[in-house]
Amino acid sequence: MDQNELKKLVGQEAVKFIQDKMVVGLGTGSTVKFMVDALGERVKNEHLQIIGVPTSNRTAEQARSLGIEVKAVDEVDHIDLTIDGADEISADFQGIKGGGAAHLFEKIVATNSDKVMWIVDESKMVQHLGKFPLPLEVIPYGSQQVFKKLAAKDLHPEFRLDSAGKHVLTDSKNYVIDLHLGAIAHPHQLADYLIKQVGIVEQGLFLDMVNTVIVGRQNGPEVIQA
Ligand code: A5P
Repeated sequence: MDQNELKKLVGQEAVKFIQDKMVVGLGTGSTVKFMVDALGERVKNEHLQIIGVPTSNRTAEQARSLGIEVKAVDEVDHIDLTIDGADEISADFQGIKGGGAAHLFEKIVATNSDKVMWIVDESKMVQHLGKFPLPLEVIPYGSQQVFKKLAAKDLHPEFRLDSAGKHVLTDSKNYVIDLHLGAIAHPHQLADYLIKQVGIVEQGLFLDMVNTVIVGRQNGPEVIQA
């Protein structure tokens, strides 16, 4: 099976955990796209009353187009379960997210959820975090100064640009800086340092946050309780 087939299978597996009347956080990314497709099918066929809380404009549009009721995070009392993708998951179930520039909203929705589930193909499972560049969402004002401080600390920052050389903008119209670290020896320390830097709105380490991981393997999806 290729990567897309693995992503589709974990998306289909994930929606089996959704029950009628649940409020469900909907992540962002190509794996989540398959999950939202599968959820749309269930909502249509089983007439489920699900409320989706999307983590990006793209996911909101897709969910609405499939007939899934959508509410913003501040319009719901609680979120039962959030299902999201990830860029890397370590052996001790810590994660890097933000490859799709949505980690700020993803973290807000995840930290307001009773349960968090990540769905990934097996290539995302690693021993230690850090090969995938760590995304930061930064306020444009003063971002060069933030960049210089990160460079001086040997954190190897790079502004994320689009193919036209323009800054990639998040849904909040902020910039993204990716840190090319290679390996992250102390994720909690790094997260604490980064979040204290004025101008960094959110960083992409998702620590001590996930309850269930579904990994797309060649012999079928593996459900792991973290
Ligand atoms: C979005 O900003 C990310 O956190 C995604 O959840 C992550 O990049 C996974 O995306 P894919 O499912 O497309 O790999």
